[in-house]
Amino acid sequence: MDLKNYINGRWIEQDLEKVAVINPATGEELAKVPLSTKNEVEEAVRSAKQAQKEWALIPAPKRAEYLYEIGYKLKEKKEYLAQILTKEMGKVIEEARGEVQEGIDMAFYMAGEGRRLFGETTPSELPNKFAMSVRSPVGVVGIITPWNFPIAIATWKSFPAIVAGNTVVWKPSTETPLMAYELGKIFEEVGLPEGVVNIVFGSGSTVGTALIEHPDVKVISFTGSNETGRKVAELGGRHLKKVSLEMGGKNAIIVMDDADLNLAVEGILWSAFGTTGQRCTACSRVIVHKNMKNELEERLVAALSNLTIGNGLDPDVKVGPVINRAALEKIYHYVKIGKNEGARLLTGGEIITTPPYNQGFFFEPTIFTDVKPDMTIAQEEIFGPVLSIIEVNSLDEAIEVNNSVKFGLSSSIYSQDVNRIFKAQRDLDTGIVYVNAGTIGAEIHLPFGGTKGTGNGHRDSGQAALDVFTEWKSIYVDYSGKLQRAQIDTDK
Ligand code: UN1
Repeated sequence: MDLKNYINGRWIEQDLEKVAVINPATGEELAKVPLSTKNEVEEAVRSAKQAQKEWALIPAPKRAEYLYEIGYKLKEKKEYLAQILTKEMGKVIEEARGEVQEGIDMAFYMAGEGRRLFGETTPSELPNKFAMSVRSPVGVVGIITPWNFPIAIATWKSFPAIVAGNTVVWKPSTETPLMAYELGKIFEEVGLPEGVVNIVFGSGSTVGTALIEHPDVKVISFTGSNETGRKVAELGGRHLKKVSLEMGGKNAIIVMDDADLNLAVEGILWSAFGTTGQRCTACSRVIVHKNMKNELEERLVAALSNLTIGNGLDPDVKVGPVINRAALEKIYHYVKIGKNEGARLLTGGEIITTPPYNQGFFFEPTIFTDVKPDMTIAQEEIFGPVLSIIEVNSLDEAIEVNNSVKFGLSSSIYSQDVNRIFKAQRDLDTGIVYVNAGTIGAEIHLPFGGTKGTGNGHRDSGQAALDVFTEWKSIYVDYSGKLQRAQIDTDK
């Protein structure tokens, strides 16, 4: 199948260079995706701009009705979408279903916003004067989404944007365009007005850049790597754009000496090797109290040997492939660095080359121990199934190690001691903190994002997402019938 851009409510056949979309578990070609140029971005922005005025005038509860319809469609197609998602991205089927569910949750949550979108009413400092604030749409928004959550993250960004009265130009990852195509089809099926969401496939350097530079695109919401995010912010800054970035993580689970070890082992395995470590919330560091270290290591290695690796369509498989060959090589490169820096490999560490694994991109789930907090593998985001174990002597040291990285997305502590837990939730410098649960699995009605190198102060999800896609407008209505000067006539 040759995919097409979705502009102004139509799938448009264009004479563009195309690249193959590959199933990372089998190497099979699934589709071809076009590499659009600046012209297609122009066309899409024009269509979004044209649609926006009318869209913003539709009452928000009416706009929200489309989101309810989208939510029902996603629900109806959940299994169908999950199967495609697993084929295209590689995550195991159970997780793919979970990701589609995340989109359903976001559809219904943001549909509810159609009847909220709360502003404030406040007293005025003057008599016979009314003061309030309302959220107004920013206009056309550009969204740039990654391959690791190709449907959920698209919903995190596009749904709040459209319920608030904006229109969207969306550049999905070229690794996972089928999910974008399927979501586009749903927009079409529910009759979302033309131009409200437009999809332009292509590279970050061409399509992403054109979107960021376009004078009619007012906001850019980006999820992806730290390196690309920095470029997006630089370019956006030059054009005075509001840029919302959600980037990497180097998330840690702290295991204290009073932890329930069975629970911790389960949480670590799920957080480190779920989605084959390709979540920005994935746990890539375990910070363990020295009294628990040996037992934790033994249990982790034993439990890991029971995790089946393979094609995620097989319901028994717990760890799927990584996204592509470049990812395999990058992960392997970090493993070599880990060994050279003196970390001890407990298990894994190799690209799996035995058939049928060699048809796809499989890496052995890997655990390093005796890792020092400043080693490269404990500092940089690897985005694969590689976990580093770091030993500490106290909670204070654990928190210090947790905070010693340039990222700040997610963290977790396993302990039974309420005093330690409350101290940790206060002092861990991440946007998300878990207690007695792993680092993954954020729910859509709370803010999602992080501190330091993970973001730039904005959040996806929850009410916070509305701040990205709206401007505050403060409105004063003076019904006194005379000139009343603020700050001056207040003394009368
Ligand atoms: C991501 O990895 O970019 O909290 C998103 C989680 C998921 C979302 C992850 N709900 O792990």
